[in-house]
Amino acid sequence: MLNQNFHEKVVLKSSQLTPVSSPCDGVERTLLERNENSEYAISTTIVEFKPNSFFNEHVHDSGEELLVLEGTFSDEFGDYPAGTYIRNPHNTKHSPFSKNGCRLLVKLRQFDPMDNKQVIINTNNEPWLPGLVQGLKVMPLHNYEYESTALVKWDSNTEFSFHQHHGGEEIFVLKGTFYDEFGKYPEQTWIRSPHMSKHKPFTLSDGALIFVKTGHLLNKK
Ligand SMILES: [Fe+2]
Ligand SMILES: [Fe+2]
Repeated sequence: MLNQNFHEKVVLKSSQLTPVSSPCDGVERTLLERNENSEYAISTTIVEFKPNSFFNEHVHDSGEELLVLEGTFSDEFGDYPAGTYIRNPHNTKHSPFSKNGCRLLVKLRQFDPMDNKQVIINTNNEPWLPGLVQGLKVMPLHNYEYESTALVKWDSNTEFSFHQHHGGEEIFVLKGTFYDEFGKYPEQTWIRSPHMSKHKPFTLSDGALIFVKTGHLLNKK
């Protein structure tokens, strides 16, 4: 069990954690949350594929959601460069690999049982929409009932309004530095804030690019 108290805020600087090996040579994982110590765990993980490594063919029980952070991730269906967002729904399967190496943010077994949409978005090619305040741009990636996933780009010195997270909020800082009244969250920080938590986020001179999920922690005990 790792970070399974969903009433607590969790902040992890993923680059300071030690990766662990996986069943496949050349594939390592940095664990952010996991409900059990097995290959069948519900988990959120940074996965690194070394050059010319592969992972065994597997079926996605309750779905696999991932964002390519660095390098190019591949499977028998295609090549996915850094910035690609992928959702492989329940019962899909593939044999992933990486020719030149890659790093991924991966969430396993967390799909709503009715959410069976396959999604592949190369965020490098998608338009940004205006955010709720000046200095903020949003790229919606997926919405399903209460759950929503997006990239949010913050200009330098941008302030967002004080708000509450119905169903929680999960953030991975992709670039720059994200702040709120509780702390400073540099690149590669993972933040999970509980249902009904509140904050007032902002950026300073370097701005930020963040991956954000909201609403998905509503039914987590
Ligand atoms: Fe997979
Ligand atoms: Fe928030």
